[in-house]
Amino acid sequence: MNVVLFGPPGAGKGTQAKELAKHYQIPHISTGDILRANVRDGTELGREAKGYMDRGELVPDEVLIGIIKNRLTEDDCKAGYLLDGYPRTIPQADALSGILDEINMPLEAVLNIDVADEELVTRLCGRFMCNCGESYHIQFNPPEKEGVCDSCGAELYQRDDDKEDVIRQRLESYKEKTQPLIDYYDEKNILVNIDGAGEITRVFSDICEVLDQYK
Ligand code: AP5
Ligand code: ZN
Repeated sequence: MNVVLFGPPGAGKGTQAKELAKHYQIPHISTGDILRANVRDGTELGREAKGYMDRGELVPDEVLIGIIKNRLTEDDCKAGYLLDGYPRTIPQADALSGILDEINMPLEAVLNIDVADEELVTRLCGRFMCNCGESYHIQFNPPEKEGVCDSCGAELYQRDDDKEDVIRQRLESYKEKTQPLIDYYDEKNILVNIDGAGEITRVFSDICEVLDQYK
């Protein structure tokens, strides 16, 4: 199954992708997670990306295209892939299509998770993360013990870019650079809209209903 999970910051891409990757046994490729791991490890890529991320701007296309090309040509992607956070611009989408042609793994569906702006701000302001990859929401998806990860016991933290002014800038970047991809993929007849406003489990079953046909 070859799929992109698309949607604005806070739509629930990461939350759903983690469960979908387990359910369908395909790799979850999040460019945000790859960039944050590089920032944490202090790599050259991480140092280049950090300023853009802290301001809520997109990291330059050539950097992302390099990352995604390396990742998609790894062996585990022969089983399929679930992209989260890529592509985010038309040049990224054009580059993706070239890479996918080369590896003969064409995109089957782009799921556009739709959520209203004010709900996105509430979700991101209340998000808490763990380095093991889990994420929580103080109100909508709280851990059993406040501030502690259910799955590994580590202390939770807030992302540097989950501050209200940076969140608003991320939403602006989304509207300006990323939203045009909705028409881009609609014209290719592979766009599927998902209502992202309900319970996490309800959104998950709506997505599975669509993805089951690509199993
Ligand atoms: P990235 O990490 O991709 O961030 P994002 O797109 O802003 O997406 P988020 O991770 O914030 O949201 P999400 O949709 O995954 O929501 P989540 O499931 O966590 O990118 C970060 C930065 O990296 C970018 O700003 C950019 O600088 C750079 N970057 C990355 N990729 C790039 C690219 N391709 N090109 C250029 N730059 C790039 O959910 C959010 C919260 O809501 C959580 O607390 C969750 O528990 C809660 N929640 C989830 N679903 C529900 C629900 N149904 N109901 C209630 N609460 C819910
Ligand atoms: Zn954890």
